[in-house]
Amino acid sequence: MPLPLNEKVADALNGQLNTELQASHVYRAMAAYFDSQELPGFSSWFIAHSREETEHAMRIYSYLVSRNARVALTGIDQPATDYSSPQAAIAAALETETDVTKKINQLFELAHESGEYGTQPLMHWFLEEQVKEEDLFRRLSDQVEAAKDSRWHLLALDGQLAQRV
Ligand SMILES: [Fe+2]
Ligand SMILES: [Fe+2]
Repeated sequence: MPLPLNEKVADALNGQLNTELQASHVYRAMAAYFDSQELPGFSSWFIAHSREETEHAMRIYSYLVSRNARVALTGIDQPATDYSSPQAAIAAALETETDVTKKINQLFELAHESGEYGTQPLMHWFLEEQVKEEDLFRRLSDQVEAAKDSRWHLLALDGQLAQRV
């Protein structure tokens, strides 16, 4: 018999899987917000990021299946559909990432405390990914903050983001 996945860790991984799907949904809603602001570069950037979050969820899904643990999907909360400004939307995105990092840290701690050593490589991957993502979102936040209310600067940034996808 293979060693079963610690139950608390399995629950927490399912929680994280749903958090990633929630983030994916939030970023899709942000894409829609940017489309409503006629900023298609921002929108496609968020669509691409939304897909990445789904991939993160599926990474956990595959891990649970490989450990013969049950995948338990939950409902997804309605995301915000409007923001006071592009800056506010990006600030909310950065906060979403910071939140995810905190949850990954907790999950890492739980895997460690539970002696779930097999789960740690997956957690390492996520820890590294969160460092990259926070950096990415922080840079974008700096850029939109610098654009302030200048439509011209926002459009220039939009063009850059369209090319990054
Ligand atoms: Fe993620
Ligand atoms: Fe992310």
